[in-house]
Amino acid sequence: MFDKVEILLSEIKQSEVGSKDELEAFRIKFLGSKNIIKPLFAEMRNVEPSDRKAYGQALNELKNAAEGRYNELLDSLDDQEQHTMAEGIDYTIPVPMDHHGSRHPVSLVLNKMISIFQRIGFVVAEEREIEDDWHNFTAMNTPEDHPARDMQDTFYLKGSTEMLLRTHTSSVQSRVMTKQKPPIRIIAPGRVYRNETISARSHCQFHQVEGLYVDKGVSFADMKDTLLYFAKEMYGKDAKIRLRPSYFPFTEPSAEMDVYLGTADDTAYRLTKGTGWLEVLGCGMVDPNVLDSCGIDSEEYTGFAFGIGIERSAMQNYNISDIRLLFENDVRFLKQFSPIL
Ligand code: DAH
Repeated sequence: MFDKVEILLSEIKQSEVGSKDELEAFRIKFLGSKNIIKPLFAEMRNVEPSDRKAYGQALNELKNAAEGRYNELLDSLDDQEQHTMAEGIDYTIPVPMDHHGSRHPVSLVLNKMISIFQRIGFVVAEEREIEDDWHNFTAMNTPEDHPARDMQDTFYLKGSTEMLLRTHTSSVQSRVMTKQKPPIRIIAPGRVYRNETISARSHCQFHQVEGLYVDKGVSFADMKDTLLYFAKEMYGKDAKIRLRPSYFPFTEPSAEMDVYLGTADDTAYRLTKGTGWLEVLGCGMVDPNVLDSCGIDSEEYTGFAFGIGIERSAMQNYNISDIRLLFENDVRFLKQFSPIL
């Protein structure tokens, strides 16, 4: 009898399992309702009375050994499983998208404007932010002693009178026109810099979208029609525009465009300060001097150009009262805008 117990004990101690099924087989064999140890208790009566106590103890130990080994095997199986799971991690499974980033309000407005002009054949042109004096000013009909240079307080690079941070995206006009022959139809979004005191209403950096169309026979009427289309797409199909005479060195004639939003709803009233009219952009017919400076024959070609400030539109659109919020990148501010999906 004792031999049987001995054999089972060593079998239990040496048992190993590699799967849940094998573990279950172990449990049934040693701990199940019809387990292999039970009949050994019935053998008690065949044991010499003097050995019965020892036999009983040996059986209890056997039972305990079976339970202990079962728990050990269970633990080792868990470990094995975790290991194989780690090896089998699928790094290509998409991350659950419960934490979205969001587009910056300036990007939202920029992207909307770009897509409006792309739909009528304008192509995006991007150029450098560190510019030379010629492309930013001289080629744009703003020679050195021109008073218009004072209108745009310029950041020059340290120790340089030649290199500067572009003060407007109009510099992209001269970059493109010196490289490319007409027809030219570009839209140039980007950041510009001016040495202005930072306050709630002005900043030393902001964004513009520049437009330029140069071809044979481009007229003021073409410009007006293009800008009316833009106004309707941007502000709604009932939008009306007016062009007020203005001055820019690089256009002749020059104008500023206002869009009529009316005063009926509260936002429109607030945006237009009660006048119904919102100032949106500067524009004009490209000055022949600009075309000639860039190597385009002003006898043969004409063109129109326009420049739109982005920050003011974004602030008006989203009711943002301080321009500085647009450059501080505080997540609490940024996460209010539409998520990237
Ligand atoms: N560059 C001008 C500015 O920064 C805006 C502008 C006005 C651009 C008229 C143009 C234009 O292309 O035709 O104030």
